[in-house]
Amino acid sequence: MQKTAKDYIVFPLDFSSVKEAEDYVRILDGKVGVFKIGLELFIDQGPFVVERIRKLSRAGIFLDLKLHDISATVQRAMERVAALGVDLITVHCSSSRNMLEKAVLGAKGKTRVLGVTLLTDNDADAVEAQGFKTEFVKDLRLLILQRAKMAHEAGCAGVVCSGKEVKEVKEKFGKAFLAVTPGIRPSWSVPENDDQKRITTPGQAIAMGSDLIVIGRPLRDADNPAKAALKVIQEIEDALAARFEYCNKCKN
Ligand code: C5P
Repeated sequence: MQKTAKDYIVFPLDFSSVKEAEDYVRILDGKVGVFKIGLELFIDQGPFVVERIRKLSRAGIFLDLKLHDISATVQRAMERVAALGVDLITVHCSSSRNMLEKAVLGAKGKTRVLGVTLLTDNDADAVEAQGFKTEFVKDLRLLILQRAKMAHEAGCAGVVCSGKEVKEVKEKFGKAFLAVTPGIRPSWSVPENDDQKRITTPGQAIAMGSDLIVIGRPLRDADNPAKAALKVIQEIEDALAARFEYCNKCKN
């Protein structure tokens, strides 16, 4: 099936109650491509929440558990994830390549594994405090690309990275290697005291080559979330058209 603009949107179900999560699934069904279940909802509801969301929508399901443990434990956890039949799962790239390989092995080709390169609320100070060399502290991009390389070599389907690194990730690891971008802020919705540091608009992220954009609060907190989603879809369509036009010009 051809990927349309809405399929680029991942809506995180960052809610503490399943009722709220289900309400938003009903509101945004058909207007986003993927629903993301994070730690809050998963810890509260358990694996059954996956089935509940699946009953309400045909959108993809992304289980954002950001796993990080010894390789054998991650592999076994991944086998359980694969049994749930979710489309995407996250693991941290801050452990070993072996852990990433075991994650991919455990997922058995049923669930696509995404490596989390560097959380977008980690800045240079946080990286320095973790003991990284000055080279990485001065240029977080280098750390992100090194981790993306490890994820690529380990067989991950792609990485989660900010919109600022997407272009380089695509150039280095190829078109098929997924770049999933959080920290999306449309120009019409920048929350006060935002915790996201390396932000991009939907249009910028798509123009850089993002395969999926994670957009939560700008939709959730909008007066009319369905209408806000349609606005994002329009912005994605425009960016895709410009990307297409640019590619055609390159060919000529
Ligand atoms: O758009 P908003 O900031 O509300 O999106 C928050 C969501 O993005 C959360 O579900 C969070 O887990 C996710 N996120 C992510 N990776 C990051 C930063 C945020 O998956 N590096």
